[in-house]
Amino acid sequence: MTTFAHEHWSSRFAFLMAAIGSAVGLGNIWRFPFIAGENGGAAFVIIYMMTTLGIALPILMAEILIGRMGGQSPIGSMVRLARQHKKARLWAVIGWGGTIGAFVVLSYYSVIGGWALKYTTLAVSNAFAGMDGEGSGALFADFTASPLTLFFWHTAFMGINIVIVIGGLHKGIERAVTTLMPLLFLLLLGMVVYAAQTPGFDQALGFLFKADFSKVTAMTFLTAVGQGFFSVSVALGAMMTYGAYLDQSVSIPRSAFIIALADTGVALLAGLAIFPLVFTYALAPGAGPGLVFVTVPIAFGQMDNGVLVGTAFFVLLSVAAITSAISLLEPAVSWAEEKFSGGRRTATLVVGGACWLLGLASVLSFNDWSEFYPLASLGVLDGKTVFDIFDFTVTSWVQPTVGILMALFAGWVLSREDVMAALGVTRAGELWFRLWLFAIRIVCPLAILLVFASAVWPDFVASMVQPAD
Ligand code: PHE
Repeated sequence: MTTFAHEHWSSRFAFLMAAIGSAVGLGNIWRFPFIAGENGGAAFVIIYMMTTLGIALPILMAEILIGRMGGQSPIGSMVRLARQHKKARLWAVIGWGGTIGAFVVLSYYSVIGGWALKYTTLAVSNAFAGMDGEGSGALFADFTASPLTLFFWHTAFMGINIVIVIGGLHKGIERAVTTLMPLLFLLLLGMVVYAAQTPGFDQALGFLFKADFSKVTAMTFLTAVGQGFFSVSVALGAMMTYGAYLDQSVSIPRSAFIIALADTGVALLAGLAIFPLVFTYALAPGAGPGLVFVTVPIAFGQMDNGVLVGTAFFVLLSVAAITSAISLLEPAVSWAEEKFSGGRRTATLVVGGACWLLGLASVLSFNDWSEFYPLASLGVLDGKTVFDIFDFTVTSWVQPTVGILMALFAGWVLSREDVMAALGVTRAGELWFRLWLFAIRIVCPLAILLVFASAVWPDFVASMVQPAD
């Protein structure tokens, strides 16, 4: 069977920057703070750390491992591994599900990434100056109400993404992540140092770290698992693709641990950068998706160095989004490279172009189609715009399914000897290895099953896991 010779990472550092770049994204800086805010802060943060280490991390290891064993795009790798190990061809759904899921996520991720770009220009031009809640809300509403403006910024974001991915692994992706990721860390640290000097810092510390478990419900756990999957970039084939480009000499457990730790660290630091501002200016921490685009700009508009701090923040958000978007485009591009002989350039233009086109549906979801609920007849999808449907189906259905399948494939389908050899484990008795195997064989599938069920029958699961009071 022919295999396509993909480029390999030029160093462990390059791989780590790309993988951390994939993990650290809108999920950390836009989604995590508002989800933590909505779920009562510290209790959620603690549960989030537990579920991420216990569930997302083992699957991340499995995903990178499967990728490295296959050495191809997620689809190519799964087809190849199923054949090699004489398993059902059906296991290729891991590859297809992940690749299509990533493609769909990218289509709307690019629209929000476009918002980050637009807000960078607003911050630079001091557009938030003296704004109150109403003004900020109106600014955001006017912006999203215009299909043409959203179209423009979505196009710009996808364009940047395509240009980077066309360059290939070394000249495109590696070059982008090795410059952008250090910049991201610098900006984030700068933001936290700034926030630490505002009067709201103590309150933010309490909010993020003093847990009030009375607000915890089963849903808190399920939200945490879902958020962890999205944030650590598992179960969409992105990490599998990056794993396929990884040399045998790099330790997967250690890398996965670093990636998950860095991702969680950035989410916490993002909280430490944002909430002090929210509290200093007496804004609402539970503002929902508008937290970063509506609430935080009010603080920038009122502080002394608002242009500088605001610009730093939205550049940070844009950089985080771009380095994740790259990894969402790569699975389908690497598959197209293997499948068609047109070369990387054509593959990227066609896949990226198609994804851009699909993104137009999300552009319209915020204005002309804001009351268009195409799958309302399906019940669970009632009241959801195209954008909501894309987000909900992938994060609640595709990711849990692909995640379970990855865990089962690495834990039960591949032989223990093959997995040990691929991981470079020398003694079967090594503690971490046994823990990991237990996690992907038992803990992860069961936990995900619960998440999955909660998406399909939220009320049923809530009543099962929660004592009636
Ligand atoms: N982890 C990215 C974020 O936090 C999103 C992402 C998910 C990227 C899955 C790739 C794969 O924004």
